[in-house]
Amino acid sequence: MTAVPVLLDVDTGVDDALAILFAVAHPGIHLLGISCVAGNAALPQVIQNTLTVLDAAGAGDVPVAGGAHRPLINPARDASHVHGSDGLGGIVLPPTSRQTHTLDGAEVGAIELMRRILLASAEPVTIVALAPQTNLALLLRAHPEVSEKIERVLFMGGSASVGNATAVAEFNVWHDPEAAAIVLDSGVKTFMYGLDVFNRVAVPFDKAVALQSSSRTAERVAGQLIAHRTGIGAGKEPVYTGLIGDAGALCALVDPEGLRTETLPVFVELAGTSRGQTVVDRRVYPGEDSMHGLRETTGVTEVALEVDAQRYVDLYLSTIARLG
Ligand code: BDR
Ligand code: CA
Repeated sequence: MTAVPVLLDVDTGVDDALAILFAVAHPGIHLLGISCVAGNAALPQVIQNTLTVLDAAGAGDVPVAGGAHRPLINPARDASHVHGSDGLGGIVLPPTSRQTHTLDGAEVGAIELMRRILLASAEPVTIVALAPQTNLALLLRAHPEVSEKIERVLFMGGSASVGNATAVAEFNVWHDPEAAAIVLDSGVKTFMYGLDVFNRVAVPFDKAVALQSSSRTAERVAGQLIAHRTGIGAGKEPVYTGLIGDAGALCALVDPEGLRTETLPVFVELAGTSRGQTVVDRRVYPGEDSMHGLRETTGVTEVALEVDAQRYVDLYLSTIARLG
């Protein structure tokens, strides 16, 4: 199997952690580096979580760098009600001696790390974005020359139906809508793994419990992460969802046959109560907007609309079973 060169952008995060385990384990993924951004937790916590999860995965030397501390325009709250105040649902991992990436003794920031990795790569790189897209927007604005080295941006974010941060907006896009709009309008090929499929790929509770008694570290950690109960809805008791979450976007990368997708116009709403919504134009006969004096929907992206959930659960579990 030829491995796809991948840059991961994360806000680790319980389900980003599940994705990192998968990215290290899967032979079809060549993990070139990880950029971190504020989202589920504050940036220093995201970086720390990313480094400790790489240890749990038994990863080799993967460069990690910190990027944006906040969204481009409006400040936004983290998702500690979902991921806990430490971003990992209170799961305690051994301390790590891993450090963020340095060059000649100086720390390298996420934007610079991405730029260097992209320009140095012999083949175009797939960016898998599992977080608010602030780092990507900054990269594309500061260094547009990297676009030709990007195979595509496969992002977890958005929705063609229901939201989670608001009734219509998914968290990653809601957190930094302007950044997502910049990426979608950048001309770089994009693929949207949104809530329509994200919310469907769930591990049964008994399986998550069984994983916690595995003899393998990565499986035990995955079991704890999956079993973590998530706060959903104001004042509601945390619930078990079993979602593999962001890891599903990596399943989409290595096993696209598990999805039904359509290539559709998508734009990000930037104002009002639907700020952060990805408006996905699914009309059979699009293009009527101009007849009403409105702008046409711009930006085209491949949108995942349906998933074979069992197939992705099996893929996830069999992949992390490869780790020690
Ligand atoms: C997304 O938001 C975060 O809470 C998760 O890590 C995932 O990337 C889901 O809306
Ligand atoms: Ca995430």
